[in-house]
Amino acid sequence: MKDKSNQSHSAEAETEALVNKNVSRRSFLKGAGLTTAGTVMVSSGVMAFDRPKPQAKKAIGPGATTINLRVNGKTRTIAVEPRTTLATALREHLQLTGTKIVCDRGSCSACTVWLDDQPVNSCLMLAVEVGDSEITTVEGLSKNGQLHPVQEAFIEHDATQCGFCTPGMVMTTAHLLRNNPDPSLEDVRHAVRGNLCRCGTHPNVFKATMAAAKKS
Ligand code: FES
Ligand code: FES
Repeated sequence: MKDKSNQSHSAEAETEALVNKNVSRRSFLKGAGLTTAGTVMVSSGVMAFDRPKPQAKKAIGPGATTINLRVNGKTRTIAVEPRTTLATALREHLQLTGTKIVCDRGSCSACTVWLDDQPVNSCLMLAVEVGDSEITTVEGLSKNGQLHPVQEAFIEHDATQCGFCTPGMVMTTAHLLRNNPDPSLEDVRHAVRGNLCRCGTHPNVFKATMAAAKKS
């Protein structure tokens, strides 16, 4: 059996060890806190030093801003609000009313124009986003007063009724023939799959496009 003095001695030693442990843990945490803070400061200082400064972007709007648009081979300067779509800019600011707005939400393709030779729905694009791209509208298809072969074929084959879808159909089929001068009927059907017509002109649009392909 251990004597009492021995027991109390070892209890004191344990208490001292615990105190020392706590002190050293506290000191450690304090030190670590400072070190961590120092590291954050240093590391953010380094990061801030290395990180390239963000480029200041020119804010546009909310009022009208002046932009240049390349349309049918000419540069046109207009003032539009940032919310103005390309379709609206063409129709209301440049009086190019051949481009039609029907759904105004990208569903019908009546507003199709070419942007750098690619057909796009101009109601889905903001005029301020166009930049230096070349825009071709239905007015730009005819050359020297001569209608485009697709336009002539649409007239010959009665491929238009109310006419709201017609400019979009013409821009889509003319683009097809530009890239594929000898399309199959399936190619034509595929090309105009997004061009909606409430008047049921699709059969005549197919005939007109095939006829235009034969002529060109
Ligand atoms: S008006 Fe643009 S897709 Fe219908
Ligand atoms: S001709 Fe009327 S919507 Fe196509």
